[in-house]
Amino acid sequence: MSNDSRHLQILAFAGSLRRNSYNRHLLETAALAVPDGIQLTVYDSIADVPLFDEDLEKEHPAGPDGVRRLRAAIAAADAVLIATPEYNQSLPGVLKNTIDWLSRKTTDGQEVLAGKPIAIIGATPGAWGTRLAQAQLRQALVATGSLVMPAPMLFVRDAARVFDADSGHYDAATQKRLTAVLQSLQRWARQQLASVD
Ligand code: FNR
Repeated sequence: MSNDSRHLQILAFAGSLRRNSYNRHLLETAALAVPDGIQLTVYDSIADVPLFDEDLEKEHPAGPDGVRRLRAAIAAADAVLIATPEYNQSLPGVLKNTIDWLSRKTTDGQEVLAGKPIAIIGATPGAWGTRLAQAQLRQALVATGSLVMPAPMLFVRDAARVFDADSGHYDAATQKRLTAVLQSLQRWARQQLASVD
């Protein structure tokens, strides 16, 4: 992104298919907490990304529809925000599956995650705030050549307590932490993108 004056475009998606996902709600709250200069779009769902299979990849050299759609959305964004649940002290299979698809070269030789600034956050009703899932997601993303923001990290624990089901939003303290993550992602993305301009 060479023009500093336009809004930074952030594409956000959750690693959950659940209708009432705490992680999807976290992104929706983030969309309310955006600092100036950012436009955040919450991607509807990764539900249409099929199970990765190298045979399927050969049959669809440009990628299955759901993969093409997500790749195009990521390519059009300056940065990505991923909210991951934690399953069995790791990232959910649906999210890892999505990263595996995104890590593959497109027919024109592009790798959509390579060089892309990314921030990771996560929410759980449990006590540890998705620490282990985030660590494993970070490791997988580093393998794709994406530029994963080192800090601040956001581990939302006790999600049932800090999320208000009536309003559909997280509490003020969580909103403040989301704003801090987005401000840092804005700086991180501008630095990283300026260095390749
Ligand atoms: C979980 N959950 C969970 N939570 C956690 O903090 N650490 C964990 O290791 C696990 N393990 C786990 C395994 C499986 C198979 C399921 C289905 C769930 C609970 C999990 O945090 C909870 O279901 C969240 O609500 C999932 O995130 P979304 O879908 O609400 O975004």
